[in-house]
Amino acid sequence: MTDAVLALIGQAMQHAGEVRSFSAYAPSNIALSKYWGKRDRALNLPLNSSLSISLAEWGSHTTVELSQSGSDQVLLDGQPLPPTSGFARKALAFADLFRGGRDVPLLISTRNTIPTAAGLASSASGFAALTRALCGSFGLDLQAQDMSLIARLGSGSATRSLWHGFVRWDKGMRDDGGDSHGGPLDLAWPEFRIAIVEVDTGPKLHSSRDGMNHTVDTSPLFSNWPEMAERDCQIIEQAILEKNFETLGQTAEANALAMHATMQAARPALTYLTDQSWVILQRLWQVRKDGLAAYATMDAGANIKLVFLKEAEADVLQAFPDARVISPFDWPNA
Ligand code: PMV
Repeated sequence: MTDAVLALIGQAMQHAGEVRSFSAYAPSNIALSKYWGKRDRALNLPLNSSLSISLAEWGSHTTVELSQSGSDQVLLDGQPLPPTSGFARKALAFADLFRGGRDVPLLISTRNTIPTAAGLASSASGFAALTRALCGSFGLDLQAQDMSLIARLGSGSATRSLWHGFVRWDKGMRDDGGDSHGGPLDLAWPEFRIAIVEVDTGPKLHSSRDGMNHTVDTSPLFSNWPEMAERDCQIIEQAILEKNFETLGQTAEANALAMHATMQAARPALTYLTDQSWVILQRLWQVRKDGLAAYATMDAGANIKLVFLKEAEADVLQAFPDARVISPFDWPNA
């Protein structure tokens, strides 16, 4: 595997200093135009570009430092994890990219500010914050764009979590992944809102990684996806630049439903949406008929995310009293 990330870290390491304690934050993000399907499974290279909105104060705080005990330690929300736990193994394997075979015992401590009840995966913010913390800890002076390339190896959606606001992940063309990274859209939309309508907060039956690969491998509908998703991504980017909320909302909702349709056609079928998800979608479509400008998007889970503008917030909360509203631009420099 010729891997642009390892080359990048290797080069940066030549100027690295002593390992020191370093803390970093990264926000979670929700894709308005989805990443679904990889052209390279080891490097998490996507078949199509995607575009997301970051979730401001909902994210991960991570500290990396030398472990005084002499062996690796991983803490999640203050609790030490057994080294065999899935989270610890993934975090330490990721840290190995930086250790490059050297014996550097690390203490990695992560605290998530995403309410557990929101049922959102924390892998996007988790790997982005870990990338930032590892770079800082090992003294690597990298641009956010380069850190985005590194975060991509942890989880595809982490590629977009290095910035606040709207972020586009360009799929890139190169086999080594060197041009497949995120970048911020240079625009603030302070009235933009996203809300999470919680359906199910339990662990999911299929990881997004497995669901994605199964869909690519078996769904006869998947062949339509990459081109359509690329077009949706362009339409949504343009709609954001023009602050055309209706086009943004319609395209984002259609894009998410099309992604879920590719899964339903997989063999055997795969679905993350539950009866309750569909009840919420039906309610949304009803209130939209009555004039509410809100649209839905759904990921590899049962929860529904709503996008709308500030002027619709009171009506959204009336229709969905449990919705948790996030103001993505209510953040310094977002
Ligand atoms: O990179 P992962 O494994 O978190 O996959 C993300 C997949 C979706 O959330 C469904 C879509 C997306 O673009 O975030």
